[in-house]
Amino acid sequence: MPDTRRLLDWYDAHRRDLPWRARAGSRPDPYRVWLSEIMLQQTTVATVSDYFDKFIDRWPDVHALAAAPLEAVLTEWAGLGYYARARNLHQCAQIVSAELGGQFPANPQALQTLPGIGPYTAAAVAAIAFDMAAPVLDGNIERVSARLFAVTEPLPGARKTLRPLAGQLIDNGRPGDTAQALMDLGAAICTPRAPRCGDCPLSEGCAAHRQSIAESLPRKPARKQTPTRRAATFWLERPRDGAVYFETRPAKGLLGGMLGLPCSPWESSSRNGKPPPTARAAARHAPARGPWQAVPGEVTHIFTHFRLQLTVYQCRTDTGLPDGGQWIVPADFPRHPLPTLMRKIAAHVLTPEVDPQ
Ligand code: ADE
Repeated sequence: MPDTRRLLDWYDAHRRDLPWRARAGSRPDPYRVWLSEIMLQQTTVATVSDYFDKFIDRWPDVHALAAAPLEAVLTEWAGLGYYARARNLHQCAQIVSAELGGQFPANPQALQTLPGIGPYTAAAVAAIAFDMAAPVLDGNIERVSARLFAVTEPLPGARKTLRPLAGQLIDNGRPGDTAQALMDLGAAICTPRAPRCGDCPLSEGCAAHRQSIAESLPRKPARKQTPTRRAATFWLERPRDGAVYFETRPAKGLLGGMLGLPCSPWESSSRNGKPPPTARAAARHAPARGPWQAVPGEVTHIFTHFRLQLTVYQCRTDTGLPDGGQWIVPADFPRHPLPTLMRKIAAHVLTPEVDPQ
């Protein structure tokens, strides 16, 4: 059994200084813990840190966030992706502010009834904010646990085995710190590649280290090739002020409810070699008559389950303009909640590629 006292000693000496963490010995603020955990779903610590600071400056407590317009929250969130998270964040803040007197519930079951809080986030908030012995199993803790106990079963099936094993590690009076110590150990020492077992406080009790198989764990299922989808997107520019036409995307689906350029449907291509849509095929989905000119090159964006390749068509006209959307001049793009994909398209159009010499 790994010696978790050594883990906590290591944590006390080496813990990362993260903006949402309480100073050693003081109680964490549940609002900050919750906000950070929502941001950290699917996003790295390095990316989240800047966003977290901006949110806290602007909305220092849950009542302030609840009172903010959703549009402002989405604008600050732009670039973090998975925009349903921002909507749920705002809705959750409103419930905690209006119905729970600003207090987050202190147990995982009650936390899980709030929007945007699933089993993982509920456990993490309960452990870190309220020091409850809830089993937190993020990617880092999964890897550390698989190695400590030499679990060779592949993920995701192995999670059933890993959860109770990870649970054994937190039975020590400091559950919140144990969870964060395992996260830090996974980030700094027990890394996916080339783990630094020589510096690890738990190497003596680590079954995978003993068997020299640490680097091969956790086992993952064979990767399937990422499918590609292709579509055309339309950059419609109004000559009098250079404003570009955006629509609000349907509420359901990817980038749901966010601003986006008009697009043809994102078609799967069974063969990755399928050509981009022809101008003629694409024009059926265009927001104006044209003439449309293809911008050389493509914009590629990776979603969780597929790669999207967009051909951008450009047109500058003041006849037959659509309505129902929003016209935004490029200088104002930063003030609007534009997803990263839309910012990439803007960069593609506005920064012409230099031909290689
Ligand atoms: N990943 C998810 N939650 C985290 C946290 N609280 N600290 C560091 N990394 C994390």
